Amino acid sequence: MIKIAPSILSADFSNLYEQIKYIEKGGADLIHLDIMDGVFVPNITFGAPVIKSIRKVTDLPFDVHLMIDKPERYIDDFVAAGADIITVHQESTIHLHRTVQMIKNSGIKAAVALNPATPLESIYHVLPDIDMVLIMTVNPGFGGQKLINNMERKVRNLRDIINREGLDIDIQVDGGIKLDNINRVMDWGANVFVAGSAVFKADNILEAVKEFKHICKE
Ligand code: DX5
Ligand code: ZN
Repeated sequence: MIKIAPSILSADFSNLYEQIKYIEKGGADLIHLDIMDGVFVPNITFGAPVIKSIRKVTDLPFDVHLMIDKPERYIDDFVAAGADIITVHQESTIHLHRTVQMIKNSGIKAAVALNPATPLESIYHVLPDIDMVLIMTVNPGFGGQKLINNMERKVRNLRDIINREGLDIDIQVDGGIKLDNINRVMDWGANVFVAGSAVFKADNILEAVKEFKHICKE
């Protein structure tokens, strides 16, 4: 199933409630929450207390993308704050399998993200345990960057593996996804699309989400 996950990274935080209502009305499937610590990536965003507050105003599933060093230290906090899916970066945690088990043991979905330079082989050992793989289509840290087209091969290879092995895993792409390239990336085999600036910097947030959903149905 194709899903759209607007990222609030590019939202106007003084007006977050209203914008969340727009993405709900537009048909967003998930809300993507980008957590950055200024160490793993050169930017700082927000943490579990903000997620806990947003939890009170929407029933959308929370797709929490942890761009933090040693995420195993904070899994419990993000679960308690209301995460439905937690994504950790392969590059951020030494014992990836153990970190994935921590997430699964707390009863929510687990996903692993790969930076553009990180090969698929590095997560083969956890594929049977996870619900989603996030293939970064930009170097993480900022919204509004350009999609790296060379990620095509990685997404296609992963789709082949998932089909061949009959795995039940979503392929999420994050970074530079726009209305004019989502079809191409869908062709590669991705099925969960994060869109930050393409939604929240649009003139009309509600219409932007609707447009994404419409394209996905074509
Ligand atoms: C980038 C974040 C993305 C970001 C995407 O490090 O992980 O989720 O919000 O923003 P756009 O869609 O503007 O590239
Ligand atoms: Zn993200």
